[in-house]
Amino acid sequence: MATALIVLAAGQGTRMQSDLPKVLHELAGAPLFAHALASGRALEPEITVLVVGHGAEGVAEAAHDIDPDIRIAVQSEQLGTAHAVAQARAALAGFGGDALVLYGDTPFIQPGTLRAMRAARAAGAEVVVLGFEARDPARYGRLILSDGGLEKIVEFKDATDEERGVTICNSGVIMANAELLFDLIGAVGSGNASGEFYLTDIVAIARDRGLGATAVICDEAETMGVNSRADLARAEAVFQARARSEALDNGTTLLAPDTVYFSHDTYVGRDVVVEPNVIFGPGVTVETGARIRAFSHLEGCHVGCGAIVGPYARLRPGAELSNGAKVGNFVEIKNATLGDGAKVNHLSYIGDASVGAGSNIGAGTVTCNYNGVEKFRTEIGARVFIGSDTMLIAPVTVGDEAMTGSGSVITRDVPAGALALGRTVQVVKEGAARRLFDMYKSAKEKRKKGR
Ligand code: UD1
Ligand code: CA
Repeated sequence: MATALIVLAAGQGTRMQSDLPKVLHELAGAPLFAHALASGRALEPEITVLVVGHGAEGVAEAAHDIDPDIRIAVQSEQLGTAHAVAQARAALAGFGGDALVLYGDTPFIQPGTLRAMRAARAAGAEVVVLGFEARDPARYGRLILSDGGLEKIVEFKDATDEERGVTICNSGVIMANAELLFDLIGAVGSGNASGEFYLTDIVAIARDRGLGATAVICDEAETMGVNSRADLARAEAVFQARARSEALDNGTTLLAPDTVYFSHDTYVGRDVVVEPNVIFGPGVTVETGARIRAFSHLEGCHVGCGAIVGPYARLRPGAELSNGAKVGNFVEIKNATLGDGAKVNHLSYIGDASVGAGSNIGAGTVTCNYNGVEKFRTEIGARVFIGSDTMLIAPVTVGDEAMTGSGSVITRDVPAGALALGRTVQVVKEGAARRLFDMYKSAKEKRKKGR
C-alpha cells in the first residue's frame, strides 16, 4: 500500500524560550523535524507533507534543503492537531493510499514500530494509533481499549477520574487511509476543554461508523517528545548513547565513548580508532582503519582508509583525505584534497587547495586563499616538499616534485621539479652580536646610575 507522510510542525514550542521555531532546534546536528522525516522513511512514503505554522518560511526552507520534493502545508492558526492534519488535504488531493501522521518534535520512533502499524492496517484496522505504557501518564491522551480494539482516545483535560487512571497513552502517531482520514477529520468538532480540534477524536468517530480501530504499543522511549531545552538535552543524550553503542557494535574502537559526539549521519568504518574528546559534525565519513586522535573536530569531510587525524585537528567542509594521509596537531583543512599518503603534520592552514600524493607540507604553512573579497585555489602536485612557514598566495600552482624554501612567500607558479625561494638573503656579520650585547649592557648601566 502506498504511503504518504504528514509531519506536524506548526507549533511554536513556547517552552523552548526561543525565537527559533521548536522544530528547527538541532538534535545530533540536524533540525528536530528531520529526525521525524527519517523515521517516516521506513515506510518509503510516496509523498511527504510538512505542516508548518510558526516560523513557516524558515521551516519550509530547512525542509527543502533536506528534500526539495517535500510538500509544505501552512497552518496559519494552531487550532489543534486535527486542524493541522486537515491542512495537508490539498497537498494529498487524489492520493488514494495510507497516510501516516508523525509529530515534528518526536524524533525517536523506530522503523519496526511503523512497520507494525502498517501490518495492523493490512490486518484490517481502518485506524491504527501508536500507544505506549507510560511510567507517568501525566497529561497524555489516554487510549480506551476494549476486546473490540481501540474504542476512543480521551484527552487528559476531558477525561474522567476513571479514564485518567488508564496508563496506556497516545503517542500522537496515527495511520489511516488518507481519504478516510480527511473525511473523519471533517466530522471533528471543538467542543472540548481546550476548544481545539483534536485529531484523537477520529477514533470514536470511526467506531461510530462501524469502522475498526486498533492500537500498536511501542516502548515509551520512542515516543519521547521535545518541549523544552531540558528535553532537548535529554534527547541529545539518548541519541549519543545509541550512536556510541552502534559504533562499538559495528567495529569502531572508542577509547572513551562518553566523550565522543556523533551526528545523525556520521559514518565510521570498521577498525577505526577514535580517541577521547572527538566531535563529528554533520556529513562525516571515516573509512576502515583510520585513526582520529584526541580533541579533533570534523564536519563535512571524508577520511580515507588508514589516514591519521589529530590530535587537535580541525577538518572543515570539503576536506577529503585519501588513504594513508596524515593531518597533525593544530592543522585546519577546508575544501581541500590530500592525496594518498600526503602529510600536513603541524600548525598549518590548507584551504581551497589540492595536495598531491606523497607531498609533505611543512610546519606553519598557510594557503593564503582570501584577499578580503574573493577566494582562490592553491594546487600542489605530487611528491612536493613545501618548506616550513611557506605562505602560498593563491591563486598559485606548485608542480610535481617541486620544493619551496622555508619561510618563503610564494606568489608565482612553481614548475615541476623547481625550487622556489621567496625570502630575503641571509647576512652574517662576524662578532656583531657580541658588540651589540656590550652596547646594550653599558646603556642599561648608564640608565641605572643616572637614577
Ligand atoms: C497530543 C495528543 C495527545 C498525545 C500527545 C502526545 C491531541 C489532541 N492530543 O497532545 O493525545 O498524548 O500529543 O505528545 O492530538 N501541532 C500543530 N498544529 C496545531 C496543534 C499541534 O502543528 O494546531 C503540532 C505541534 O507542533 C506538536 C504536535 O502537533 O508537534 C502535538 O501538539 P501538542 O499541542 O503538543 O499536543 P498535546 O497537547 O501534547
Ligand atoms: Ca506535546
